[in-house]
Amino acid sequence: MTSETRRTRPEPSGQPPTFAEARSKRAKVRSAGMDPDYWYPVAYEHELAPGTTLATRFWGHPLVVYRGADASLHALEDRCAHRQLKLSGGEVNGCHLTCTYHGWTYDGAGKVVHYAHDLFGRAQPEVKVPSYPVTTRHKLIWVFPGDPQLAGTRSIPDIPELSGARPWARLDVSYTWQAHHSMVIDNVSDFTHAYLHRRFRPFWDAKLTRHELVGDRVELSYDTFIGGGRFTSRFVDRRKVDTTSIELAFDYPYQRSDTGGSIKHWCFVLPLDRRTSRVFFIFYFDELKIPGTRWTLPRRLMPAVMRAAGALAVKPLLREDGEAVEAEQLGYETHHTAPIVELNPAVGLFQDLTVRKWEEYLDRDRARPHRSSIAAADGRVVPEAPAGRTG
Ligand code: FES
Ligand SMILES: [Fe+2]
Repeated sequence: MTSETRRTRPEPSGQPPTFAEARSKRAKVRSAGMDPDYWYPVAYEHELAPGTTLATRFWGHPLVVYRGADASLHALEDRCAHRQLKLSGGEVNGCHLTCTYHGWTYDGAGKVVHYAHDLFGRAQPEVKVPSYPVTTRHKLIWVFPGDPQLAGTRSIPDIPELSGARPWARLDVSYTWQAHHSMVIDNVSDFTHAYLHRRFRPFWDAKLTRHELVGDRVELSYDTFIGGGRFTSRFVDRRKVDTTSIELAFDYPYQRSDTGGSIKHWCFVLPLDRRTSRVFFIFYFDELKIPGTRWTLPRRLMPAVMRAAGALAVKPLLREDGEAVEAEQLGYETHHTAPIVELNPAVGLFQDLTVRKWEEYLDRDRARPHRSSIAAADGRVVPEAPAGRTG
């Protein structure tokens, strides 16, 4: 079984309020979930080989994604309907998933299609667990954890630069951080934290020139010096790329940036629970130059350079962000009643949007005959089960 690489830390005692209990805007944003009626990446495609399972969660609600022997993908609630064992500890047989305990076998729609024991004279019972739409895009596996009827109405972002005859150079980086998703969105969009990166200087002297809420999207721009660090300063041709400003958006629930139309990224956040988020970054560059020259790097060399850039420049930088947001989470849990001071007006917009989208989801959920398990889970931190077998 594959699962998030790091075990979830137990919640401290005296924990902050839940969303229902929260009164202040700060407590609301730090306890809000993410609207499950969107597509969320759960893993890279290469993390799930045929015949294996992957245990993940959405806002505390356990999901299993498994790949059939024919490479088909299926996503189910990670719970056997019989005695509630995790199905991710079961075995993939063809395109079905068999629970490890009494051998109930589920199809990709979550229906039990075989019972590996006597039925005591009964007809085969109709038993089912919820299933979720699942697909692949941008080398990632995406699950739609909300109302399956809405899956067709939501799109995974297009990244046309990564396909076609002349794809841009791409770098993938992913972390599981012990921090609420809103802290991650604040971090990647709020450029007041240049001090944290004073060794790498990916941006500095940022002046917010625009911040605006447009529907479900916060758009913002900074005038700033981009890319003084090891990678961009050597490999980006500043004669061609304007590195004096950056456009960003929190295009709910995804975040992105664009520097001079030539350096871009997407950040996709999977809210595992209320203090754990898996973050998938895709960075892409339209061209790179050979350091110390004016020549463009041949495209066939770009993947190797991007891998080196990831190891030497991007990952060390993002590790600083990870340490900061994890420290912020611990700080919040210890001092959640203390007043805070927020200076960047754009941060208020991300936070208002996060709270509004969660309230809208909860309103839709309350109008349904049965409360969804994601709303009911309320982001609670569920200890991870011991690793099970894979098929
Ligand atoms: S607990 Fe899964 S088959 Fe019994
Ligand atoms: Fe940062």
